Amino acid sequence: MEAKYDVLVVGAGCAGMRAAIEAHDAGADVALISKIHPVRSHSGAAEGGINAALGNASEDDPEKHAFDTVKGSDYLGDQDAIQILCDEAPDDVYQLENWGAVFSRTEDGRIAQRPFGAAGEPRTAYAADITGHVLVHVLYEQVMKRDLKVYEEFFVWKLAVDDDRCQGVIAWNLLDGGLATIGAKTVILATGGAGRLYTGTTNAYACTGDGMAIALREGVALKDMEMMQFHPTTLAPTGVLITEGTRGEGAFLVNSEGDRFLKNYAPNAMELASRDVISRAEQTEIDEGRGVDGNVLLDMRHLGAEKILERLHGTRELSMVFAGVDPIYEPIPVRPGAHYHMGGVDTDVWGRTSLEGLYAAGECACVSVHGANRLGGNALMETITFGKRAASHAADWALTHTTVEVREALETDAERELRVLLDRTEGERPWSIRNELAETMHVNFGVFRREDQMRKQGEIVDSLRERFESVVVEDKGDVFNSDLTQALELGFLLELAECMVIAGLERKESRGAHARPYDYPERDDENYMRHTLVTWQDGRPKLNWKPVTTTKWQPMERTY
Ligand code: FUM
Repeated sequence: MEAKYDVLVVGAGCAGMRAAIEAHDAGADVALISKIHPVRSHSGAAEGGINAALGNASEDDPEKHAFDTVKGSDYLGDQDAIQILCDEAPDDVYQLENWGAVFSRTEDGRIAQRPFGAAGEPRTAYAADITGHVLVHVLYEQVMKRDLKVYEEFFVWKLAVDDDRCQGVIAWNLLDGGLATIGAKTVILATGGAGRLYTGTTNAYACTGDGMAIALREGVALKDMEMMQFHPTTLAPTGVLITEGTRGEGAFLVNSEGDRFLKNYAPNAMELASRDVISRAEQTEIDEGRGVDGNVLLDMRHLGAEKILERLHGTRELSMVFAGVDPIYEPIPVRPGAHYHMGGVDTDVWGRTSLEGLYAAGECACVSVHGANRLGGNALMETITFGKRAASHAADWALTHTTVEVREALETDAERELRVLLDRTEGERPWSIRNELAETMHVNFGVFRREDQMRKQGEIVDSLRERFESVVVEDKGDVFNSDLTQALELGFLLELAECMVIAGLERKESRGAHARPYDYPERDDENYMRHTLVTWQDGRPKLNWKPVTTTKWQPMERTY
């Protein structure tokens, strides 16, 4: 075994780094392990902001934040977890500010807050339109200051489960090759989402659901996997995120007729309705022939150059570089794209999973504060608050519990499994399967879902899994063998797709991101106000259900 820690955090984005800092400050011996350098984590791509009821732009309080989040979740979010998020958010944001996060300011020097979708108050604290980038760097400074061990460019492939508890990970060393077992009394998964299941996505290439898949393989349940969020404004043709902050600042959406079509879908909130509502509206306009080359247009010209340059300079840059359009002078082409997985590893409000010693936080986890539809700005907040909470519990557990013992056979078995893959000299290259998976998920499991398409997708994923059995990794080398790691990632993605399809088929209603307008157009609280839970048994997904925790908000009709 390479080393042993009290707490090992897998993934070094906002959730992972916040967790590592907390565990260290609680007295634990901590390490971070990540397949990419921490500041290149996908958290850095978060743009528009982080939600906390600071009350700097209006009368606001955590109760209002909690209600907006419950309603936004289409009543699938767990209300105890949502209350915790909203109560702890203000102090957690001030902690980031004290560490040096350069939030944009009000005239009188407080943290500025902008309106975001489905929020009753302007609640989203921001650093222009590069909030995630700012937070990642501030957290990395704190990691450096504490001199925490970071295993950079280690691909975590398996959990080391021995004696019915998670006692570390088995990882592939990307720089030098070879497997390493890193022991830990507790492991916190903070590996982010799986947006790479789709062609059109805001997600980085690294977002391949690694944490979810390795937990699933060890018998841990994944919750609400059918709930993939489509962000309404992803830039055509690449899928790069155009922040909701543009609409918060006053940008609007028009169709090919120049019509602000949202008046027909969300007449009160218009461009600040919830993401699921706006994505469906856009898709309907496009499908009914009122799109512009498969997109709608986001117009911010009326904001003026000064505001765009001050608050949305990153957006302008992205638009010019990736679409050749300067939003100061022209509307930009946008469309719904896969953005965020509300589902993930089933945890309690301390990030605990059903496997002793294993925790999860951030997008790879489902605690669940987002239910069927996440509010923009709540993801960054969740990474911070629940990263902190998971670490606090994990550190406490580790400091009061036993040693780490991982049998050598675990690594030897993993080595053998890897050899079979590396020794194969003929077969299909993984990328073609990966492309086919992403393209078909987009068509058959997108903004709108149909029974026949979901069934077809199930068959497609089955056949892709069969083909995956004989993929060939052509690069046999040790140094930065991305051919190998992409094959392993594909294995993860295929299993997650299976989980999504089974959960999607069984949720026979329309709720949040799961829209079935053709067969089950209504939300059905009586039968489906509950979470799907998928476990992996004999190479197949198995579905169960779990009740939603309701504290004080009974489900109501959701209009914007
Ligand atoms: O639109 C955005 O800036 C994204 C924010 C989020 O997903 O929370």
